Amino acid sequence: MKILGKFPSTRLRRVRKSGWIRRLVSENSLSVNDLILPIFVRNGKNKIESIKTLPGVNRYSVDKLNVIMNKVRSFRIPMVALFPYTEKNKKDRYGTEALNKNNLICKSLRFIKKKYPDIGVMCDVALDPYTSHGHDGIIIDKKIDNDKTIEVLVNQALLQAKMGCDVIAPSDMMDGRVGVIRKALDKYSYQNVSILSYAVKYASNFYGPFRDAVGSKSNLKSDKKSYQMDFKNSNEAFREVGLDIKEGADMVMVKPGMPYLDIIKSIKDNFRIPVFAYQVSGEYSLIKHGIKKKLINEESIIESLMSFKRAGASAIVTYFALDAAKKIKNQLK
Ligand code: PBG
Repeated sequence: MKILGKFPSTRLRRVRKSGWIRRLVSENSLSVNDLILPIFVRNGKNKIESIKTLPGVNRYSVDKLNVIMNKVRSFRIPMVALFPYTEKNKKDRYGTEALNKNNLICKSLRFIKKKYPDIGVMCDVALDPYTSHGHDGIIIDKKIDNDKTIEVLVNQALLQAKMGCDVIAPSDMMDGRVGVIRKALDKYSYQNVSILSYAVKYASNFYGPFRDAVGSKSNLKSDKKSYQMDFKNSNEAFREVGLDIKEGADMVMVKPGMPYLDIIKSIKDNFRIPVFAYQVSGEYSLIKHGIKKKLINEESIIESLMSFKRAGASAIVTYFALDAAKKIKNQLK
């Protein structure tokens, strides 16, 4: 027998040769337990309205939330994230509507926590859906005022907690807000309400469709670079995460997702706490468009979500949560 020395003795293809062995050696997996579905709420009755910039995603009036919540429950998605589309006449320079106990978020929280007590609900703490200028904070002398904004945010967080919110998610990027919110929650006996800090939130170009979905896009005249992070930076992300953990964050978010997998990985490796990723609206729209135009196939959804698991994310906020849950369920059949 002639032995051919010029061929490799290590053949990685041996562990790829059939489905069964690929399943045995696979290093990561995506389950429904990893998914968080964002839901947009609007005013009115009996309304399920599509969003042009986010095909496949709707805005629901509170009385129609059961339609989407039933799907969430049937797939056993652990948590939803609520976002309001606020009408123009309810917006002002100070985002006052954020503190109205009958605003869309409060109404939705009461409804969901009553009818779906086993599903977690997270809410953004930030003023952008409520301000006439579309910024996350209050403007004083043409600048976003950090400390004045926190005074409102802390009340927004307390109100959400009172209405039954399980996970308070400050997404405003003001300095020191996590500590103030944690203290206030504890003081008012909401010590079991968690904080998921959007610790690492970049001033990104991928938020466009979301801003349209919450109705802040046309209001926003300038960028958010004086409070959201510069996408050239990564060391700064560690400083943000370190501070937020010290201030009492239970989990941290990296946002957007796919352009920042390096950040997810290094935060996970260095801090060993639950890191959540937000596959934001622009990422969703691009993939959705590609699938619709048949430029890429539908499996790209799972591939994109798996990249977060590889990077070390514990969970992913994604507009694909229902599609992914369906795919995962079908795989198991
Ligand atoms: C606002 C907020 C934004 C998103 C979530 N919360 C947009 C922004 O900062 O302008 C973006 C989510 C997405 O694009 O899907 N605090």
